[in-house]
Amino acid sequence: MSNELFQIDPREYPDLDVYAVIGNPIAHSLSPEIHSQFATQTQQKIHYGKIFCELGGFKRVVEVFFARGGMGLNVTVPFKSEAFNLCTKLTDRAWAAGAVNVLTKVQGIYCGDNSDGVGLVRDLEQASCSFLASNILIIGAGGAVQGTVLPLMEKFPARIVIANRTLEKAQKVVERFNNEATRHQVEIKAISIADLTKENQAFDLIINCTSSGLNHQSPLTDDLAKHLVNLSQQEKKDTLVYEMVYGKITPFLEQFNALGSRTRDGFGMLVEQAAVAFESWISVEKDQKLDTFTVLQGLREKFQN
Ligand code: ATR
Repeated sequence: MSNELFQIDPREYPDLDVYAVIGNPIAHSLSPEIHSQFATQTQQKIHYGKIFCELGGFKRVVEVFFARGGMGLNVTVPFKSEAFNLCTKLTDRAWAAGAVNVLTKVQGIYCGDNSDGVGLVRDLEQASCSFLASNILIIGAGGAVQGTVLPLMEKFPARIVIANRTLEKAQKVVERFNNEATRHQVEIKAISIADLTKENQAFDLIINCTSSGLNHQSPLTDDLAKHLVNLSQQEKKDTLVYEMVYGKITPFLEQFNALGSRTRDGFGMLVEQAAVAFESWISVEKDQKLDTFTVLQGLREKFQN
């Protein structure tokens, strides 16, 4: 196997704990910067790198990384479900998501967690979002949604509506989470995006979990966005509109900004999911709580310039 596959060799850092993010593509990843800042905040000596992995090479690269003393990996697109399949031990939220983005090896066993959904919830809490008895609209039905539903349910909203362009995919997500919905006493419902015009209850929180923003598209027509905002105005709700994509103002954000809604992009989710991973790897003392706010502000400033 070519050496290019192993840009990070933990043996080259004998005095440091070595972590990395693995994906394809990976050049754009901000994880090394975020984790380095957490390490500085908590006076930890770590090296955190990026691993570009060929499709088909994931298992082998992971094996070599851990065999050479690597301590933990963040896994990103397109390897999250491969990481899931590799794990013998999974957290409940990784199991529910069907995807792993935090991978460790303990006594020869791969252990997987999914920090995406809980990262989203933590970021929403930073934005003063209150979940209890709330009405939540999730747009999309792909991998990003699977990771999000359980952490949201654990905050006891009253209702979660999953709206997707392809109704069948939203129905599958609802089927998958039906038992959890009963356990948490949450009403869960699938709907096609086009049928959102028939919705007559205002949402407290609207989350765009689709990948549409990456292609400079919105999943909603302008009329649909307006309909959702009208519902909020009728019920005098200060609806928070959240876009998972970060680093640019997507057409979805543009629509709701133009309508005067309170909006937030996915930068905070990126920082918070990293914080959850960092805290699971390195025991952070209570008086050294991670300052995600400062990290997020720094990233936002960097992207604005
Ligand atoms: P991921 O695992 O990253 O979430 P995915 O499984 O391909 O990616 O899912 C992408 C999601 O974005 C899907 O819900 C997709 O809708 P469909 O199931 O109907 O394909 C949604 N999506 C992508 N582009 C979209 C667009 N322009 N409008 C509406 N939905 C879009």
